This record gives sequence, structure tokens and C-alpha cells, in this order.
Amino acid sequence: MSAKQEVILSGIRPTGRLHYGNYFGAVQHFLRLQDAPATCYYFIADYHALTTIAGRRDIRAQTIDMLRTYIACGLDPARSIVYRQSDLPCTAELALLLGMITNIGHLERGTTYKDKFIKLKEDPKSEGNPLSYGLLGYPVLMAADILIVKADLVPVGDDQRQHVEMACDIAEKFNSRFGAEVLHIPRAVDRSALRLPGLDGSQKMGKSDNNTLDLLDDAATVLKKMKGVPTTTDPAPLDTDSTDPDVVIPKMPAGVGVLYRLLSLVAPQEVYLDYIRQYRDGGKFYGTLKKSLAEYCTAFNAPIIEKFNDPQYSDDFIEDFLRENAKRVTPVALDTVESCREAMGIGRSLYRG
Ligand code: TRP
Repeated sequence: MSAKQEVILSGIRPTGRLHYGNYFGAVQHFLRLQDAPATCYYFIADYHALTTIAGRRDIRAQTIDMLRTYIACGLDPARSIVYRQSDLPCTAELALLLGMITNIGHLERGTTYKDKFIKLKEDPKSEGNPLSYGLLGYPVLMAADILIVKADLVPVGDDQRQHVEMACDIAEKFNSRFGAEVLHIPRAVDRSALRLPGLDGSQKMGKSDNNTLDLLDDAATVLKKMKGVPTTTDPAPLDTDSTDPDVVIPKMPAGVGVLYRLLSLVAPQEVYLDYIRQYRDGGKFYGTLKKSLAEYCTAFNAPIIEKFNDPQYSDDFIEDFLRENAKRVTPVALDTVESCREAMGIGRSLYRG
């Protein structure tokens, strides 16, 4: 008999459309995990999306679009269990229970909360909604997400590591108070470290910075965006014989670096190497590089766009898919909540009949 498979869990924020930074930073990693001998759960964190909104936003439509994009990228509905966080409302109950043992001081040190706190202090009108109980409790809800499915591994980017560590702390505290084995303690694992710079040459491609190349951008848009990337022919010597993108790109002017980074991801290696050679030689070649890069990007994303628009993946299809998957996770989730209720000494839940 084979050993029990490890459980991998990760959450995806429903931010609407995905960009190349999301793809090469996260989506690709998730797609590779589909082949791992593990049970992979992904969920779309729509409750979490509520922690930063000022008014009504169509999170439901964004969730559906997000999942459709993942499917277009190669997420296999037959192999991956992707559910919507709010389809598993017992997560909210677990968050409530975990909140009882979480110190406010611990939460106030959370980065998401701290950043927002600082932003609001600097400019009280900068955000639509003030600091909320929900935002402070963000890591508690995230702990509930992780613990409810008894996850072993939680692949996250650097920015979420602290949250996973908080989840482990909360679980350990729970176990030490209420029973050693009640909650399963997970491990954080690093997701790909690749951070794509923005098309404006800034450090990071990000939706709020308006500097993204979107996964669903059509050929004309891609070309237009490429043309807008700031380049300069002022010499910035590479000082190395290496051609490794991680070595040479940091030595280039920012905008130029973005072009080479993208080239290294979507073009054949010989094309990338040829442009590195041209860089060393100097001269005016950015016009051609941009045009050719735009073509490679288009060749890369055209099949994604086509699949995204495939009528097979209608809203109804996606909703059914989410509902079915929520049903698959519900038993393990209810089991966790039930154990916590039992351990804490409150009544048994009625949902289980
Ligand atoms: N907070 C994560 C993000 O912003 C999303 C998330 C919510 C998550 N719950 C999670 C990630 C649980 C991993 C595990 O990207």
C-alpha cells in the first residue's frame, strides 16, 4: 500500500485578469504541481478579497474569469481540485474559533496589516475603507484555509511566507491548549522566486502600477506595450561573459532588462543569445528586438486566448466545476471543524446530521 499522499494547498487572490508576472511567478508553478504525486488543492480566496474593498465589486465575475484563465493556461479540471473559499463557509467558522486564541499583538505585526496601517497614516484618504476587523484578521482566515484541509505543504511567494508562519504558530498554540494532535501543522515551501519587472522598468509588474503585460493581451496591444518600454542605447556594459538571465539582466538599464527577461521566457534560447550578442556589440536594435519579442509573446499567448474564449468554458461550466470541487473538500473541512469544536468543548455541529 502506498503512503498517504501529501496535501498541497495554495490560495489565489481573485484579482481579475492575470499578467505575465503572475504566469511566470505562480501559475506555471501550480501547473507543474499537477504532475506531482500529491493531492493539490487550490482555492480562490474571495473572502480575502473583501478585506480591501471600499464598495461592491464583482468578485464573483472576477473569480470565474480567474479560473477560466487558469484553465486556459493548462490547469486540468480533471486533475486539480479548485474551489471557491466562500463555497466552504466552515472556513469562516474555523477562523472564528482560531480567533479566540490569537493575540492582537501578533496580528498587528502582520505585513499586510502594517502596510495598510502606514499607508492610512500617511494619507487617511488614500483608501476607501479604514482598517477593518477583517483586515486585521486576514492571517487568521488564512490559517483557517490552510488548517481546514490539513495541508502538508503551502507553496507561496515571499510576500505570503509570514502569513503561513503565523498559521503554524496559531495551530501550535491551539494544539498546546486543546490537544496535541487536533490541528495538522503545515510547512511553507517557496514558490518560484521569479519576479518580473514592470514594463515601465520598475521593480515589479503589478496591476495597481499599470505596468503589466496581460496574459490575454492581443497582438496589437502587445506590440503597443512593447514599443512603450523605455530603452536607452547608453552603454551599460555587462562586465561578464555569462549569458544567464539572472546574471546579465540586473546589469542592464531597467526597461531593457524587462525586454530581455521576457525574451528569455518566451523566445527560443538562440534568439535570446543572439540579442545578448547584439547588446554587447552596441548599436540600435531595440526596434527589431521589440517587434520580434512582441511576436514571440503573441505566439505564446494566442493559444491561451483561444482557450479562454472557448464556449465550452462557459460561466455555468465554471460554476458547476467549483460546486463539485467544494463538495469534494467539504468532508475533510467539516472533520477539522468538528475536531476543533470537540477539543474546545462546544456543541457538535448540526451540519453533519
Ligand atoms: N493571501 C494569499 C495571497 O495574497 C492568498 C491566500 C489566502 C492563501 N489564503 C491562503 C495562500 C492560504 C496560501 C494559503 O496571495
